[in-house]
Amino acid sequence: MSTVNYSEKIPNNVNLSEDRTLQRALEHWQPGFLNWWQDMGPDGSINYDVYLRTAVSVDPSGWAQFGYVKMPDYRWGIFLNPADKDRKIHFGDHLGEAAWQDVPGEHRANLRRIIVTQGDTEPASVEQQRHLGLTAPSLYDMRNLFQVNVEEGRHLWAMVYLLHRYFGRDGREEAEALLERRSGDSNNPRILGAFNEKTPDWLSFFMFTYFTDRDGKFQLCALAESGFDPLARTTKFMLTEEAHHMFVGESGISRIVQRTCEVMNQLKTDAPDKLRAAGAIDLPTIQRYLNFHFSVTIDLFGADQSSNAAIFYSSGLKGRFEEGKRTDDHLLKGATYRLLDVSGGALVEKEVPMLNALNEVLRDDYIKDSVAGVQRWNKVIEKAGIPFRLKVPHKAFHRQIGTLAGVKVSPEGNVVSEAEWNARKDEWLPSEADRAFVASLMGRVVEPGKFAHWIAPPAMGINRQPVDFEYVRFN
Ligand SMILES: [Fe+2]
Ligand SMILES: [Fe+2]
Repeated sequence: MSTVNYSEKIPNNVNLSEDRTLQRALEHWQPGFLNWWQDMGPDGSINYDVYLRTAVSVDPSGWAQFGYVKMPDYRWGIFLNPADKDRKIHFGDHLGEAAWQDVPGEHRANLRRIIVTQGDTEPASVEQQRHLGLTAPSLYDMRNLFQVNVEEGRHLWAMVYLLHRYFGRDGREEAEALLERRSGDSNNPRILGAFNEKTPDWLSFFMFTYFTDRDGKFQLCALAESGFDPLARTTKFMLTEEAHHMFVGESGISRIVQRTCEVMNQLKTDAPDKLRAAGAIDLPTIQRYLNFHFSVTIDLFGADQSSNAAIFYSSGLKGRFEEGKRTDDHLLKGATYRLLDVSGGALVEKEVPMLNALNEVLRDDYIKDSVAGVQRWNKVIEKAGIPFRLKVPHKAFHRQIGTLAGVKVSPEGNVVSEAEWNARKDEWLPSEADRAFVASLMGRVVEPGKFAHWIAPPAMGINRQPVDFEYVRFN
């Protein structure tokens, strides 16, 4: 069950060879995917040999192998966690019924929409990151970028498999459309806002993998609870890969912070202009990037009150984070939840039916999780003896979606006038000048074991290889 025949065109543990129609549909989609990778995958990387991890099974004790791969030859496989034949739906109106092995007709449109929305984020992030290989601060970092990229490609495969296998012709059409939309394209953009933003530099990339890949984690965790069993099993396995993406972000920011603190202590200054002149990214700039990525990412959870969220939950399509560990009735009919509202220009708390607030519930779980890593960055600053602390901005800061989009709020959570917002937004969000400064630091470092000046080396390498391992070979 868990080993994969790598001589097949599409590695899989779903007995693809026994379903000729499906196999042909996927083999038909594959060249389009490879064309997309050539056009929109990492810029100029086609011939590089990259030390990559490839998923080869779902066995927790050895699911991946490492080796040099040219990225177009990466084996994007289809893997589902093992089935539990007794699995029951454990929330919503179908509570206690057997999990679905097929798509129930009445939930078909909603399930397709959920899968397409998740699937669309995967190629979008590859598109957003496609120029970053040209300015990687080391071979180690370049390899990590490419690892994230190929795995997002595999996540696209995972969603396309579900569309082809369970949704017939309209599933195939959606799978084609996933290769046609483009991040940031005004005519045919990706579905969600944060996936149409640019990821222009490595500070943005690390913030993105820390904050936005973590949104991925929470969405996947909610889908891993789904009553539609193939979706639950697929997303569970995707989470295995997602952990590394968030590690790349957390450790990347940590290493930038570490280098900045070293330079602050050497020069005995916290003046941003002096630190910038010395080639380090000052902590207030890091805070502004954090504010930006945090706020655009929490928008991804959707409107604070949503009848769709209620339907997805009550239908058994999408659970809460760690649904199985919660001890309430898993129906939530009479339950309420407190969320923020705007009244007379001020933020107030308001109690609403929990079913309608499930986007907010997931967003709040996400916020708790993301704060923990920020505290670990602060440990690095504290250890260096520097009084500055990073923090996540208030939930209402810089929101574009839901009730809070209608009000201007400072990172501390104070409602401000339009005039004050305009006067102070460059204190709170990266300015053109900040972005230009960060861009000015970006330059490719290709000597094994060497790192750009603005970032500290990692404590250790990948897969127990040394830090100065030749993670990427150029041809
Ligand atoms: Fe992903
Ligand atoms: Fe990811």
